[in-house]
Amino acid sequence: MVAVAVLGAAGGIGQPISLLLKLNTEITKLHLYDIVRCPGVGADVSHINTDSEVKTFQGATQLKECLEGMQIVVIPAGVPRKPGMTRDDLFNINAGIVRDLVQAVAEACPKAFVCIISNPVNSTVPIAAEVLKKNGVYDPRRVFGVTTLDVVRSSRFIRDIRPEFSCSRSVTVIGGHSGNTIIPILSSLAAELNLSTEEVDALTHRIQFGGDEVVKAKNGEGSATLSMAYAGSRFVSSLIAAVKGRPASECSYIDLDAHPSAAESAAHIGVTGLSHFSLPVALGPDGVDGIAPHDKPGAREAELIKEAVVAIKSNIAAGTAFVLNK
Ligand code: NAD
Ligand code: LMR
Repeated sequence: MVAVAVLGAAGGIGQPISLLLKLNTEITKLHLYDIVRCPGVGADVSHINTDSEVKTFQGATQLKECLEGMQIVVIPAGVPRKPGMTRDDLFNINAGIVRDLVQAVAEACPKAFVCIISNPVNSTVPIAAEVLKKNGVYDPRRVFGVTTLDVVRSSRFIRDIRPEFSCSRSVTVIGGHSGNTIIPILSSLAAELNLSTEEVDALTHRIQFGGDEVVKAKNGEGSATLSMAYAGSRFVSSLIAAVKGRPASECSYIDLDAHPSAAESAAHIGVTGLSHFSLPVALGPDGVDGIAPHDKPGAREAELIKEAVVAIKSNIAAGTAFVLNK
């Protein structure tokens, strides 16, 4: 049995990710929750002829019922950016949304894997961690910031300039999920693909600010939804594979206490004094099971890491303070 809940299921990401999860034949129960429009989305998705049972829940009074028995909880609830905004500008609204949803997770399904999509991920994941800690149910192996879209973009953007690069090949992306905290590790690929310094710089910038491309193109109608749904469903598929004993790995923004090798790996690349950082994570039946083999940062990326650490530190502090100072 694999039971998955989507919180924010009627939104721009929520709808297509619910569709993709309904197509995942390993999922047996799919629970969809939102504060609006959820019955329609649920009825629609439930007509797809795969075996999973779809149930719909709407409004805070139905949240706990939605979460009971869930093994994986995917959270794309919250507001998206408009042009001119940073992800941090979403903090004031989304911090409270994530806090309240994770509080319900702590009460109803404390052992579930929690996959956080809501921005700013660099802060919302520490918020989730603090809420679970407050409730005495925190297992750092089971909480993930979903940064898969940065990996998906990296593969695709490299393919745009080197058609011989296979889109299905994964690229290591570490750091966080916002602007200059996103660090694609391109050094060894640069040698393999004969990328010039200018090409590496342009690719790095495009990957870091790929989200802005979509926000600009949508012109006030939100941010990435379809590519995010794809990325999020890929992350969930990897998690399910790991739970079922198949090898899987994904880059994800995790608690560095989740595994001794996480803190070691981070320290090795100069990341100290942070509770969270995105690394290539080996996934196992209990979640984070180590660090997956990955390309090592080169000298240029080492500089980017230094900058990212400063920004992520303040994002984490904001998230932590939001829960602890209430
Ligand atoms: P959206 O506005 O289209 O949908 C959000 C949904 O959340 C809505 O249906 C809304 O009703 C619901 N919602 C709001 N408060 C809720 C609550 N308390 N409980 C349950 N549901 C609630 O937005 P979107 O485009 O789907 O984006 C959602 C979030 O995902 C944003 O914060 C966005 O920045 C983020 N995002 C993250 C990534 C990533 O890579 N991690 C990528 C794209 C978007
Ligand atoms: C993205 O990377 O597309 C998301 O984080 C949404 C955004 O605000 O850019």
